Amino acid sequence: MEERDIPGVSDIDLICFPNVKPPINYKGEFENIIAHYWVAETDHVIGFGGFWSFYDEADIITIGVLPDFRRYKVGSRILLAMLNECIKLDRKYITLEVRVSNIAAQKMYEKFGFVNQGIRKGYYLDNREDAVIMSIDDVTQTKELLKEIQKEISNDV
Ligand SMILES: CC(C)(COP(=O)(O)OP(=O)(O)OC[C@H]1O[C@@H](n2cnc3c(N)ncnc32)[C@H](O)[C@@H]1OP(=O)(O)O)[C@@H](O)C(=O)NCCC(=O)NCCS
Repeated sequence: MEERDIPGVSDIDLICFPNVKPPINYKGEFENIIAHYWVAETDHVIGFGGFWSFYDEADIITIGVLPDFRRYKVGSRILLAMLNECIKLDRKYITLEVRVSNIAAQKMYEKFGFVNQGIRKGYYLDNREDAVIMSIDDVTQTKELLKEIQKEISNDV
């Protein structure tokens, strides 16, 4: 993510996560040394994702794609870029939380090798919805899977 992407990313964040109050401050995230963000763009930003990285771990903080661009593998491209960066940075354990009702995102994470590790009760403050905790124990073990997904994405262009 470049500094010039911050307004576009903030706009998509509001569209994808209207119930998160206050919304994430992406100017702060841009300056946060443990944060790593990616954007997908045409002539404007259409999707973004980010993770926080510490020790040998990475926590996927967010990923979102503009509604008109969903189901075109934009989310996959962003997630792939993030997981490859985790491998490069030697961050093996990858974790995230996702709403129990968010089947689309859970399916995407499963496709990338994330496994359901249990539930955080009432994790989301807006409606006290539970979160599913998903993780990959060792992302280096998913290299072949990531290559296959890369191939699938390339064939899709
Ligand atoms: C989740 C999200 C980022 C997926 O982005 P996307 O660009 O549509 O995803 P892709 O096209 O790369 O799809 C990847 C996989 O996700 C799954 N998937 C995506 N959308 C799905 C849907 N509506 N229903 C079921 N599975 C879905 C599929 O397994 C898909 O693989 P396939 O194309 O081989 O079927 C997008 O739906 C989004 O922005 N949602 C709102 C924000 C959000 O919920 N973010 C996640 C927070 S944890």
